[in-house]
Amino acid sequence: MPIFTPFQSPQTKLRNLSALLLLSSAAWSTVLSTQAFAQAPRVPQLPQGPQGPTLPNTPNPTTPLPSTTVPSNQNPIPQVPVAQTRLETLGQLIFTDRNLSVPAGTACVSCHTAGTGFASNHGSRSGVPQGSIAGVLGLRNAMSNAYNSFIPPFSFQNRPQGVVAIGGHFWDGRADTLALQALGPFLAAAEMNNPNAESVVRKVAAAPYAALMRAEFGNDIFNNPTLAFQKLGVAIAAYESTPGFQSFSSKYDAFVQGKTALAANELRGMNLFMDRRRANCVSCHAMNPNSKDPKDNLFSQFTYFALGVPRNPAIPQNANPSFFDLGICGPTRSKPALTANVPNTTSIDDFCGKFRMPSLRNVALREAFMHNGAFKNLSDVIAFYATRNADPRRWYGPAGVPNDLPAAYLKNIVNDRPPFNRPANAGPAFTAAEGDDLLAFLRTLTDGYTTSANAVVPATPSITAPAANPRSNPFGGQ
Ligand code: HEC
Ligand code: HEC
Repeated sequence: MPIFTPFQSPQTKLRNLSALLLLSSAAWSTVLSTQAFAQAPRVPQLPQGPQGPTLPNTPNPTTPLPSTTVPSNQNPIPQVPVAQTRLETLGQLIFTDRNLSVPAGTACVSCHTAGTGFASNHGSRSGVPQGSIAGVLGLRNAMSNAYNSFIPPFSFQNRPQGVVAIGGHFWDGRADTLALQALGPFLAAAEMNNPNAESVVRKVAAAPYAALMRAEFGNDIFNNPTLAFQKLGVAIAAYESTPGFQSFSSKYDAFVQGKTALAANELRGMNLFMDRRRANCVSCHAMNPNSKDPKDNLFSQFTYFALGVPRNPAIPQNANPSFFDLGICGPTRSKPALTANVPNTTSIDDFCGKFRMPSLRNVALREAFMHNGAFKNLSDVIAFYATRNADPRRWYGPAGVPNDLPAAYLKNIVNDRPPFNRPANAGPAFTAAEGDDLLAFLRTLTDGYTTSANAVVPATPSITAPAANPRSNPFGGQ
C-alpha cells in the first residue's frame, strides 16, 4: 500500500466536516466557560520571533548523498517540511501565517515546530500550551502533527483482548481527518482564538497568498466562507501529508534499512522496549525492526488507554478539584456512540479517562509528555513506566492512588500486562540503568539523522537517499 493513501474519500471528509464544526465550537465554549481568564496562571511571554531554533544546514533528503563522505550527526533534528505542489505550498503558507490568530502572532507552527518534535507549548512550561492571548493556557499538551497521515479515523474494534477504541486526531480522537482537525485550532479560545470561520477566511482573502487560494479552489472561493474555511483544512492536510512530516529519517530507520548500527546502549534499550515480559513498550507502541514497511514502525497502534498519568496541577481547570479530563468521555468531545460491532456488555464508561497513544517518533525533542503534560522530561516518563506499580506514592502523593481520574473510572486504568501488571512488592519493572538504555533508544527515533561513513554498511546498495521520486517509500521496495 502506498504510504500516502488517504484513509477517507473527500466525500466522507466533507460529510464529517459539519459535525466537527458543531463539535469544536460547542466543545471549546465549554472549555472557555470553565476556564476563568482571571485564574489562568501567567507565564512569561515569548517574543514572537521566527519559527523555532535555526536549523543546521543539512542536505535536502531528495538529493543523493555521496556514499562515503557523509558524517554521522549524533544530534539530529528534523528539517522543516517542504511543500512541492501548489496545494501543499498553500497549506504551508496557511500553517505558518501568524496573522490568523486573535491577537495576531500565533500560527499553527507556533505549537508544531519541527525542531521540538513537531509539538511545542509556545513558551509555556506548564505542560500545556499558551495560546494567542498571553498567559491563557490550554487544557492539553500539544501533540506532534508528524506521521499523522497514518492515523485511521476513530472507531471501536472488537479484538480478542476486548473492545478497543482506535484512531482519530487529537488526544481524544474527535477529528477523523487531518483536514477536519486543522479547523479546530483556528476557533479554539486557548489556541488561535478566532470568533468564527468567516473572520479567518476574511484574513486569508487579504493575505499575500489569496491568489493561490483562488487558483486552487476557484475565483469565487471567498464568496463562500463556509467552503473556503473547509478548503483551509484541505490545504493544511496536504502540507501535513508531505514526506517531510513523515520522513522516516531517524537513526532507527537507517538501522532498519541496514545502513547503520546502533550503539550497545541503544541496542539494549531496543531489546528492553521489545521485551514482552518486562518493559513491553512494543505491545502498545508497535514497531518491528525486522520489517522495512514503514507502517510497521510507527511506534503507536493509535489505540486508547488510561495509564494513570499523574495530575498536572498547572492546568488552569485543575484548580477545581472536581474537574477531570476524561479523554474519550470529554470535555472537549461528546461521548461517541458505541457501534453495532461492540457487544452490549461494553459501556462507553469503560473508555472514560482513555487517551490516544501518540507515535514516539521525535519524542526526545518534545518539551512535555502525555496528554496533560504532567512530565517535562523523558526520563521521568520512563521512570513512571518502571515504578508506577512499585512506588505509587512517588507519582500520586501520600495516598498512592492515581489522582487524575474520578474514583468511578480508576478501574479503567491499564493493569493487564507488563510493565503494569506487577504487585507493588515485585519492585520496579526495570532498573534505572535499563531506563537509561531505553532513553538512548528513544533518542534514535529523532528524524534528520545522516548515516555515518564509519557505520556498518552492507555492500549494496550504496548510501543514497531516495532520489527519483520524493514520494517513494523511504525504505525502498513497495
Ligand atoms: C496554542 C498551541 C496550538 C496551536 C496554535 C495549534 N495547535 Fe495543533 N495541537 C495543539 C494541542 C494542545 C493539541 C492537542 C489538543 C487536544 O487533543 O485536545 C494539538 C493537536 C494537533 C493535531 C493532532 C495530532 C494527532 O496526533 O492527533 C494536529 C494534526 C494539529 N494539532 C495541527 C494543527 C494545525 C493545522 C494548527 C493550525 C490551524 C494547529 N495545530 C495549531 C496545540 C496547538
Ligand atoms: C498499555 C499500552 C502502553 C504501554 C505498554 C506503553 N505505553 Fe507509552 N503511551 C501509551 C499511551 C496511551 C500514551 C498516552 C497516554 C496519555 O497521554 O494519557 C503513551 C505515552 C507515552 C509517551 C509520551 C509521548 C508524548 O508525546 O507525550 C512516551 C514517551 C511513552 N509512552 C513511552 C513508552 C515506553 C518507553 C514504554 C515502555 C516502558 C511505554 N510507553 C509503554 C500506551 C502505552
